[in-house]
Amino acid sequence: MAYMNDVLSVVPQSILLGFAGIGALFLGSKALSYLQFFLNVFVLSGTNLRKYGKKGTWAVVTGASDGLGKEFASQLAAKGFNLVLVSRTQSKLQDLSKELEHKFTHIQTKILAMDFSADNDSDYERLTELVRDLDIAILVNNVGQSHSIPTPFVLTEKKELQDIITINCMGTLKVTQIVAPGMQQRKRGLILTMGSFGGWAPTPYLATYSGSKAFLQQWSSSLAAELKSSNVDVQLCLSYLVTTAMSKVRRTSALIPSARAFVRSALGKIGTGTWQAMPDTYTPFWSHALIGWAAETFLGTGSRILRSYNLKMHVDIRNRALKKAAREAKKQ
Ligand SMILES: NC(=O)c1ccc[n+]([C@@H]2O[C@H](COP(=O)([O-])OP(=O)(O)OC[C@H]3O[C@@H](n4cnc5c(N)ncnc54)[C@H](OP(=O)(O)O)[C@@H]3O)[C@@H](O)[C@H]2O)c1
Repeated sequence: MAYMNDVLSVVPQSILLGFAGIGALFLGSKALSYLQFFLNVFVLSGTNLRKYGKKGTWAVVTGASDGLGKEFASQLAAKGFNLVLVSRTQSKLQDLSKELEHKFTHIQTKILAMDFSADNDSDYERLTELVRDLDIAILVNNVGQSHSIPTPFVLTEKKELQDIITINCMGTLKVTQIVAPGMQQRKRGLILTMGSFGGWAPTPYLATYSGSKAFLQQWSSSLAAELKSSNVDVQLCLSYLVTTAMSKVRRTSALIPSARAFVRSALGKIGTGTWQAMPDTYTPFWSHALIGWAAETFLGTGSRILRSYNLKMHVDIRNRALKKAAREAKKQ
């Protein structure tokens, strides 16, 4: 201690004050970032959806027949938006359309069954025709596919690689090119794209899915800057697991919400991701946001520690999935 005092006594006062200032600025910025995080996640509401269109304007939801997409459709219908429901299975779309029009008598729905993995121009032409004269307020780019189980990249089947990139990336780009110009002209709209923690941090054994969602992250954040002057909001929505067919998790917990709870926060928290490293990105569900904030603040999303954790977790999930498949094969 006495030695430290001796050393400090020879350092000029102005330099000591300079270091103290830098320290205070650093701690102040951390405290501010914590406050910003806390207010956004636990106190503030997101942008009111009426900013994007009044009741009777339209929302387009892709991957609308199940999981999060079905929930986005239902909750947007409850808020008075008419719906264009786009997904793979015609019968599921017809059922959902009937259900929504019965429950919310003041709304209209249109459906389009298309398989995004086929990447058919004719499907995108049908979508263009379907939305041509509609006042579309909101586009939810929700359609997505992951790996059937975590798999080393070199063992991943070519069709699975191709489908993940075609559905998650090309599907989202092409639908957005159909819908965004109308929003630009009307000078209002929201383009909400489903990202994933799998793309926010490198995720071994889901490498192609991880890459596809990282692609959407960069694309969405870039597009947000391009469309800002047209008053069109573009948001990338981040999520850890939610109980849907894709996650294969059935039981909800503090960390894994139901589709209903997740979508309620996704629609209620738009624009509240100002604490996140990437602009125009938000993590709407509170426990996911806590993980995201801690990782971004203390590790960084590119952290080797986080990647090692992800590797171990997905190797474990793969081993469990393979054992389950072997047990089921034995039963038959
Ligand atoms: N669930 C999670 O834990 C989680 C976490 C992070 C991010 N996400 C993202 O959230 C989005 C929705 O995921 P989810 O869990 O709701 O998935 P899901 O339950 O598997 O539902 C996927 C929806 O997309 C449709 N779909 C799938 N492949 C299609 C194709 N080739 N062409 C047309 N439609 C297709 C499905 O149609 P059918 O009904 O006809 O099968 C279904 O309506 C995805 O982008 C996913 O990456 C999910």
